[in-house]
Amino acid sequence: MEQGDNSQETRIPAHVAIIMDGNGRWAKKRGLPRTVGHAQGAKVVEQILEDADDMGIKYLTVYAFSTENWARPATEVKALMNLLRTYMKTSLAKCAKNNVRVRVIGDKSKLDADLQDSIAGLEADTAGNTGIGFQIAINYGGRDEITRAVRKIAAKAAAGEIRPEEITSESISDSLDTAGIPDPDLLIRTCGEQRTSNFLIWQCAYSEFYFTQTAWPDFTKKDLEEAIDAYNHRERRYGGLIR
Ligand code: FPP
Repeated sequence: MEQGDNSQETRIPAHVAIIMDGNGRWAKKRGLPRTVGHAQGAKVVEQILEDADDMGIKYLTVYAFSTENWARPATEVKALMNLLRTYMKTSLAKCAKNNVRVRVIGDKSKLDADLQDSIAGLEADTAGNTGIGFQIAINYGGRDEITRAVRKIAAKAAAGEIRPEEITSESISDSLDTAGIPDPDLLIRTCGEQRTSNFLIWQCAYSEFYFTQTAWPDFTKKDLEEAIDAYNHRERRYGGLIR
């Protein structure tokens, strides 16, 4: 796990994860359909990705659609999937220009076949990029991700490829969708709620949490800077003592 250094100047977290909450409330306040809030939210994602890159953040992970979000009205689910479809189709040129490497985390097997194809295409076409790593969580749930990882490990054990005592915290991390990506240093949640909602529950064991009242569609580089400023006032001890 990479950890931010503890020098006096501003520490930029290597990995920032964001629960982008409040699209619906943002729209309702303006008398607009919830889907307009999601569309505005998608624009903000693109801007914040650029801002994060400019600030030197190495990995950005956003929660776009949870395993629980299927319970929303069919029209809203469809609108969200269409936004993601559009993103996968239109973002390649931008990713190439900005050297962004995209990875979708979550159970992709439950997504429509065309969306799975677009995701596979975007991941493959950006795999060689060396700039910011952009993870988009779609049909993602932390418990689901851990369950899938445990199944993979159990299958290896059943096949005699590994012994149970060889299973370690690292081998579990390596079996998650985020394999190879350092754990988030900072988890941001917008729009007032203070819970993790099943997002990166294994990976955020030692992450700093930052909650803001700002709704996601209103989130700007200034909000990101404020979150990083708060992060800089935290003392990370990873279970150890104050140095
Ligand atoms: C939470 O707001 C937000 C979501 C469930 C969806 C987030 C998705 C996007 C911002 C679009 C993703 C696009 C890309 C390109 C990654 P909410 O609907 O729960 O808001 P509410 O709590 O105010 O009702």
